[in-house]
Amino acid sequence: MTDENSIDAFIRGIPKAELHLHIEGSLEPELMFALAHKHGVELPYANVEELRNAYQFDDLQSFLDLYYAGAAVLRDEDDFHALTMAYLERSHADGVVHVEIFFDPQTHTERGIAFATVIDGIRRALADGERTFGITHRLILCFLRHLDAADAMRTLEQALPYKHAIVAVGLDSSERGHPPSKFEEVFARARREGFLTVAHAGEEGPPEYIVEALDLLHVARVDHGVRCEEDAALMQRLVRERMPLTVCPLSNVKLRVVQRMQDHNLKRLLDRGLCVTVNSDDPAYFGGYVVANYQAAQRGLDLSRADIAQLAANSIEASFLPDAEKQNWQRKITAFAAV
Ligand code: ADE
Ligand code: ZN
Repeated sequence: MTDENSIDAFIRGIPKAELHLHIEGSLEPELMFALAHKHGVELPYANVEELRNAYQFDDLQSFLDLYYAGAAVLRDEDDFHALTMAYLERSHADGVVHVEIFFDPQTHTERGIAFATVIDGIRRALADGERTFGITHRLILCFLRHLDAADAMRTLEQALPYKHAIVAVGLDSSERGHPPSKFEEVFARARREGFLTVAHAGEEGPPEYIVEALDLLHVARVDHGVRCEEDAALMQRLVRERMPLTVCPLSNVKLRVVQRMQDHNLKRLLDRGLCVTVNSDDPAYFGGYVVANYQAAQRGLDLSRADIAQLAANSIEASFLPDAEKQNWQRKITAFAAV
């Protein structure tokens, strides 16, 4: 390992999964400008630097406004392939061995891009990434919660021909005012069709939204979930059920869910026995990929090697891999951490 210090080399080298990543949120400014040029799209920024400087957010919505505007440069299948390949290359360099990727079809179908264009480009890259880097993958379709439930249902219907390629459905976008209960029927239909379910809950929204995600949407994981600490009974339930939370430390600081990394509850949740994991959310916008998230949390919260190893083990436990593959990775994590 080059000149990385030893905890950083440990973070990078330990096998881990990423379970909370919006592929549209991995669109780096350089690729955004290249695709804008390719398609003759005008961006309201003079250059990459000016765009990067605009990445200062007050809350989730101020980020989402930029994120949806940026996604407008993604137009053909090759764009989605390039986007996904770039993400896999960076993740491979970060020691990520398995990814479970969100995509937001409505962000694209609303602009007249075919569902097939989006998913075919992403899937081709996932297959290429597995061949090139050995990274395994699952795909999760997220509904945009600021749109109505009927729109989500139409999107689910568009996804049915791709059922075999999509492991789960999820829920993202503006959380406040759009509780999980709004999508109960869509998620019930998705479960009948054989999809697993996940949902963003308790990022900006109250702990009641986490309870709704569990009771009404029957989620297998909660995305973010960091506001669970405000409800003692919920905390006990999450521990008892070993319900995974896909936590995104840099995102939480950038979107002011917490003011400073030192204030983040990741370590407290880990110490309470919750199955917390570390993920990058929208790495092109929030200042880094998986390793950067582990490093920022390690520094801010003084995480030990044992904490890092537990977080990596949790990421495999919380994944949708088959048990035999999970056991294989857990053995590798244990062996890596023992050296
Ligand atoms: N879409 C992309 N990133 C998101 C986040 N952090 N929360 C909700 N929706 C999102
Ligand atoms: Zn997210």
